[in-house]
Amino acid sequence: MRRDGTPFAFTCPSPRRYQHQWSWDSCFHAVAWSHLEPERARAELRTLVRAGRPDGFVPHTAFWQASPRWRRAPFYATANYRGDAATESIQTPLLPVAWEYAGGATAEDLAALEAHAAWLIRERDPDGDGLITILLPDESGLDDSPKYDQVFGRMAHWKPGYARLVQRCRRAGWSAATLTRTTDEHVEDVLMNTAHALSLRALARLTGDAAWDAYAARTEAALVDRCWDEQRGLFFDLAGRDERRVEVSTWSSLAPLALVNLPVEIRTRVAEEHLLHPRRYLARFGVPSVSMEEPSFRPGFNAYRTWRGAAWMNTAWLLTGGLRALGADDEADTLAQGALDAVERSGYREYYHPRTGAGHGEQRFGFATLALDLPTGFCPSGPRVARSA
Ligand code: GLC
Repeated sequence: MRRDGTPFAFTCPSPRRYQHQWSWDSCFHAVAWSHLEPERARAELRTLVRAGRPDGFVPHTAFWQASPRWRRAPFYATANYRGDAATESIQTPLLPVAWEYAGGATAEDLAALEAHAAWLIRERDPDGDGLITILLPDESGLDDSPKYDQVFGRMAHWKPGYARLVQRCRRAGWSAATLTRTTDEHVEDVLMNTAHALSLRALARLTGDAAWDAYAARTEAALVDRCWDEQRGLFFDLAGRDERRVEVSTWSSLAPLALVNLPVEIRTRVAEEHLLHPRRYLARFGVPSVSMEEPSFRPGFNAYRTWRGAAWMNTAWLLTGGLRALGADDEADTLAQGALDAVERSGYREYYHPRTGAGHGEQRFGFATLALDLPTGFCPSGPRVARSA
């Protein structure tokens, strides 16, 4: 129970370093819980929605136990410095995907999901092109990915200037309409939009309302029309007012492989030319978060630079699903096994060295338990777990 009497229940991403509730972590926790105790999955997802607002906003981080202390407060994307219950920023939207795993969504749960999808479309797609925008690099969950270096420069997540970026968003009232009109530090992000499209498809299945399918189709078409680089065979983010392509190969460039409504030729190219390419993404232990060919590829430990090459469990989870949808089951099995071997070797860690399987960052890290779902892997047309409502 929060001090104001609001009940909450969620799994901390890691008991030592990450004690708050993070949006996409909770969705991954729910996927894992759906295999063990679906009721806990549902409680976690309901808690996340409760941290949001009736207009459909769902925060990146919710501070249930206590607000951030003064030293950390300037770096949290909040409305004020003190007493905030949650951030004003968002994180990769996966709630409907997680609800499909958890099962047993009530009419009230579904209404909240619809409000959230509508909020994203209304508030985060100011130019109406079907692609939602992020205002901070960590809104995608890929905080310090090298793809953001050239976009955010000295305000990148791992630089001191990040506090200035947060402050500017505060002054603009977190309005994407204002910030996309007046600044260049914002991104139509491929991973974010892949998750958005997956969620809209899941929402259409959960509610039976085909209108959500139409929104998903619009986002998928925009990814192909605007982000797909035919020459490189990769998807790239669009940054700033002139929507320039950010041509850095990170796992986000491969994420649309999980969108089964994309043309099969495109998905096959992503799989063959990148994911399964031994010099690019094919590693012994999971999927590196940056192409091994990129000059910025750094797979080892660094406390503040964690998405610059290391393999995280969600990369393997999402992309295994994409491979299976292509009928590449043997390749998907090998990839899943590599990620499971990393867990066998190093436990449930925040991230792993893709070549050695050494575990880095936090121990007993929540979203590494996606490993429980890895043998099947994410299923883009709805999960395969047996559920009890
Ligand atoms: C780090 C990760 C982010 C995650 C959070 C909580 O900031 O980059 O993806 O959501 O930790 O685990």
